[in-house]
Amino acid sequence: MSFRIAPSILSADFARLGEEVKAVIAAGADLIHFDVMDNHYVPNLTVGPLVCEAIRPHVNVPIDVHLMVQPVDRIIPDFAKAGASIISFHPEASAHVDRTIGLIKESGCKAGLVLNPATPLSYLDHVLDKLDLVLVMSVNPGFGGQAFIREALKKLTAVRKRIEASGRDIWLEVDGGVKVDNIGEIARAGADTFVAGSAIFGTSDYKATIAAMREKLSRP
Ligand code: DX5
Ligand code: ZN
Repeated sequence: MSFRIAPSILSADFARLGEEVKAVIAAGADLIHFDVMDNHYVPNLTVGPLVCEAIRPHVNVPIDVHLMVQPVDRIIPDFAKAGASIISFHPEASAHVDRTIGLIKESGCKAGLVLNPATPLSYLDHVLDKLDLVLVMSVNPGFGGQAFIREALKKLTAVRKRIEASGRDIWLEVDGGVKVDNIGEIARAGADTFVAGSAIFGTSDYKATIAAMREKLSRP
């Protein structure tokens, strides 16, 4: 299994965002996780397609856009044009989940569905075969720096089983409270792609932190 580390720019220094993304890529990031919040679906407001477009020339890894917005569909083509590689959304924020997945794919991006801590797996029942990624939230979305909700471990294992049964190469991402200290346990539960905001940008040496995460991932 190959593991991917996706630093969330939510915890970066926004006044120096271009330098921050370059630094974290030089430090070994596999993806840039781009958290979009609208002060409606979640009680916080962050960045939109303009900022995605602004960082794109400084980023030579996929941009992993996590939409915490409602409604979802109108903004998808804008993110595709702004250079998003993967676009994930919350099913509760879309009136027509299957249509939204179709829109993401038609716009040329990979599609992900995000499950909040209380969102049941049944949302995957009829769409898993169309997805490229499932994102399991291990905090309630809206803020960086929250504590990992341990129930997410069981959920990751259950989603991993469904992915294996599908026979498709679907990434299983986890987002919220991921640290050097718990990343091994989270990987054993089934995740292969790890979002980490404060755990990386809150340290002074991004390379050392990402290396410490990979070291934990290398020991089964
Ligand atoms: C939360 C965001 C996360 C957040 C994670 O709503 O989706 O991506 O940045 O932050 P940490 O890693 O600090 O929990
Ligand atoms: Zn996120």
